[in-house]
Amino acid sequence: MTDFAQPIPMRGRLQPSRESVIQDSHLHVLDHPLATSLVTTLRNSSSPSHEFEWAIHELTQHLIWNALTDEPIENFDVSGFSGEPTPGTRFRRRIALLAILRAGLGMVPPARALIPDITTYQIGIKRDEQTLEPRCYSSNLPESFGNIGHLLILDPMLATGGSAHMALQQVRQRFDGTISFIGMLGAPYGVAQLLGADPTLRIFLAALDDRLNEQGYILPGLGDAGDRLFGTL
Ligand code: PRP
Ligand code: URA
Repeated sequence: MTDFAQPIPMRGRLQPSRESVIQDSHLHVLDHPLATSLVTTLRNSSSPSHEFEWAIHELTQHLIWNALTDEPIENFDVSGFSGEPTPGTRFRRRIALLAILRAGLGMVPPARALIPDITTYQIGIKRDEQTLEPRCYSSNLPESFGNIGHLLILDPMLATGGSAHMALQQVRQRFDGTISFIGMLGAPYGVAQLLGADPTLRIFLAALDDRLNEQGYILPGLGDAGDRLFGTL
């Protein structure tokens, strides 16, 4: 990645450098040859949508494994193959998903393949291409999250951070548990905005990219994640 010594403006706003953001202990970026290979599939504009979806699937699962590394567990017994009680574990608190539509939908099947009975919420947020301001057009967030203790917000792209911030604001009005943002690519600007808004948030990314261009797209990036996933290019 390029080392931008000077902050790069994006529509007059200065962008922090990648190096200044990657030090944050709440940001976790995959560092593995398999991860960079899968990210390469995402970046490759020749990858067909089924390959793009497959790479999102694999990376989502790795990121969720990481996000749940320190998830509290409790012991319980199962009836083992000998018929004797055999010690096992399960999560102590309920975990739920919140997918930001539409691109976050591509991360739901791999997440649910890991935790099949997971409660899954959705929030529809679309970024205005001119102003880059997010607009919420649908939500099935509950009044109360009940006994859910950890919410995983799914969206492949963290660009200006506006969409994720809007989702976070709506969740925080009614939830004080752990929140992890799970995404593919992030720009330093969006990461800094989001962690500045909620310092308890944890962010898990497949890659931290260099910067945003003047259209608010991540560079080197992958283009429009929703269009790539759903073939609407
Ligand atoms: C994309 C992406 C994020 C958002 C990121 O969605 O999936 O939700 O942009 O940009 P931001 O960090 O600057 O808010 P988009 O608004 O294009 O909607 P879509 O998923 O329906 O295509
Ligand atoms: N949304 C995308 O899908 N891609 C970007 O690079 C930025 C926002």
